[in-house]
Amino acid sequence: LKIGVLGSGTVGRTLAGKLSSLGHDLTIGTRDVDALMARTEPDGMGNPPFSVWKGSHPAIAVETFEVAAASGELLINATSGTGSLEALEQAGAANLNGKVLIDVSNPLDFSNGFPPSLSVCNTDSLAEQIQRAFPEAKVVKSLNTMTAAVMVDTGSVAGGDHDVFLSGDDEGAKNQVRKLLASFGWKNIHDLGGIETARGVEMWLPLWLFLMGGPMGGAMFNLKMVKA
Ligand SMILES: NC(=O)c1ccc[n+]([C@@H]2O[C@H](COP(=O)([O-])OP(=O)(O)OC[C@H]3O[C@@H](n4cnc5c(N)ncnc54)[C@H](OP(=O)(O)O)[C@@H]3O)[C@@H](O)[C@H]2O)c1
Repeated sequence: LKIGVLGSGTVGRTLAGKLSSLGHDLTIGTRDVDALMARTEPDGMGNPPFSVWKGSHPAIAVETFEVAAASGELLINATSGTGSLEALEQAGAANLNGKVLIDVSNPLDFSNGFPPSLSVCNTDSLAEQIQRAFPEAKVVKSLNTMTAAVMVDTGSVAGGDHDVFLSGDDEGAKNQVRKLLASFGWKNIHDLGGIETARGVEMWLPLWLFLMGGPMGGAMFNLKMVKA
């Protein structure tokens, strides 16, 4: 499958690397290819600059958001939550129309430092904002509830016995995402319902951040549902 991953950060790199290793044809999208490739400093999380990562992933193309979106039969939004609508505008509605758009973003606003606030919550969500802005795209919220490494390596937590969610209005799109997640090794995939259910998975992030910085002692953990 031709897949366009919009986003050059940890999530974009991690998902693109995994999907490429599974035989898909990947293009990563960014605002400005030359500027991205020219960065020499590690990012805020200490990850090496993009060009170093790209050197070890020669099969993955890097293009503007627009070209990456045009090239993908399936798209992933892995851009900063506060920049996602802008990034998707740059990708262009015509390049999103009719396509499955997996939204991995979180609406975290760090403009006042840590802890961040949610830029949208309660009665709306970033996934719904994206779906409203691009009504012809088939938005499926998923994978935003865990750190990038866990998304593609389920066995790294609890032997793989933990949970991931789907939110979206298009059943066919959710089925396609379910298959993609299964190809990553996901077994416990819960369909929450329509795109409005993304409110719940986005509002988990404030607690996720406190768990990471506190009792979990790092990011390698995830949600596991248990019932009587
Ligand atoms: N890090 C994780 O483990 C993790 C886990 C779950 C969910 N998420 C969510 O996944 C998304 C990506 O996270 P990340 O850590 O990989 O990277 P990030 O630093 O949150 O986002 C990087 C991407 O956002 C783009 N971007 C930033 N501001 C923009 C703007 N104003 N307009 C257009 N594009 C803009 C950047 O463009 P350039 O390429 O041009 O720099 C880059 O491609 C975020 O929404 C995050 O909350 C992250």
